[in-house]
Amino acid sequence: MRQAGRALPEYRALRGKHTFVDLVRTPELAAEVTLQPIRRFDFDAAILFSDILVIPEAMGQPYHFRDSGGIEMEFTVNTAGDIGKLDYRPVTEKLQYVAEALRLIKPALDGHTALLGFAGSPWTLANYMIEGSSAHAFTRAKLLFYTEPLLFCELMEKLTLAVTEFLKLQIASGVDAVQIFDSSGGLLADNAFEAASGRWIRQVITALGHQVPVILFSKGTHGRWPSLVATGANILSIDWTQPLAEVRALLPDQVGVQGNLDPALLGTTPEIVATETTRILKSMKGQSGHIFNLGHGVPPNAKLECIQALVTTVRHFL
Ligand code: CP3
Repeated sequence: MRQAGRALPEYRALRGKHTFVDLVRTPELAAEVTLQPIRRFDFDAAILFSDILVIPEAMGQPYHFRDSGGIEMEFTVNTAGDIGKLDYRPVTEKLQYVAEALRLIKPALDGHTALLGFAGSPWTLANYMIEGSSAHAFTRAKLLFYTEPLLFCELMEKLTLAVTEFLKLQIASGVDAVQIFDSSGGLLADNAFEAASGRWIRQVITALGHQVPVILFSKGTHGRWPSLVATGANILSIDWTQPLAEVRALLPDQVGVQGNLDPALLGTTPEIVATETTRILKSMKGQSGHIFNLGHGVPPNAKLECIQALVTTVRHFL
């Protein structure tokens, strides 16, 4: 999940000097931001500092971070003409700066810390591209899905190819596992999930050919377990709204689980974080295939002492 960001003073210091997009696009800076949380907290895994929106940018739809906060695309994808203009073919070439960042990060981790790559799911990317920003309600991608199924499929096919190529590039550049963020999966009605998101994720995972483990974070999609398992993901990352042990019991043994502390707890106190972390660890004790994690990313108001309490509690749990 998101580790870097405004919770860290060293990140804020760098952001004072560079725009968000500059941090993402400059390999030395992206490597530095990736390593900041590892230096401070010694997590078991580092996640590449980048953004899911580098894919739309590489396909021809740039984005920036607004001064008022949040992300904005330079234009919205509205028409068949807009979709027709998006090109997945330059993705590998245009995203070489990510490969370069990974080549800097990997040796710095010294074999001690796993390195995770990531991409957005085609459905989640489509929502940002069609909506044009992170602030509005996400309704327009659904309209396209229901009213223009052929056009929807055209966009999703391009995104699926782009995501696949991008993840292959990251694997070739040394990541130990990849995570697919289907953060918008839970916007869908239960009977729409498979057609609008699940099948495209499955295509990506199949095309990756089991080179590295794949973690799938599909937020708010409880009850879609068969569709999520059918994607072929090795690990399902679970948000905080479900008891993890109950989810574990519903999944096949070969699928692991990741999660699921409520990120909001990082704004409370170290004592509360320790209690809630222990509660999850106890509920999963003796069960195989559990990676302790947050149910989403580290929020900007996270307190450093709360993140430290989480790490210490996990490390000392017997
Ligand atoms: O170490 C890490 O932080 C990993 C890198 C990472 C970022 N974004 C950096 C980031 C990852 C894995 C993401 C994923 C991402 N980006 C998702 C999927 C996961 C999720 O959170 O649901 C999405 C939807 C995006 C798009 C995006 N990026 C939005 C909507 C925003 C604005 C929201 C906000 O926090 O203000 C971002 C900005 C962003 N991406 C930040 C970081 C560190 C904050 C930038 C800043 O404040 O300087």
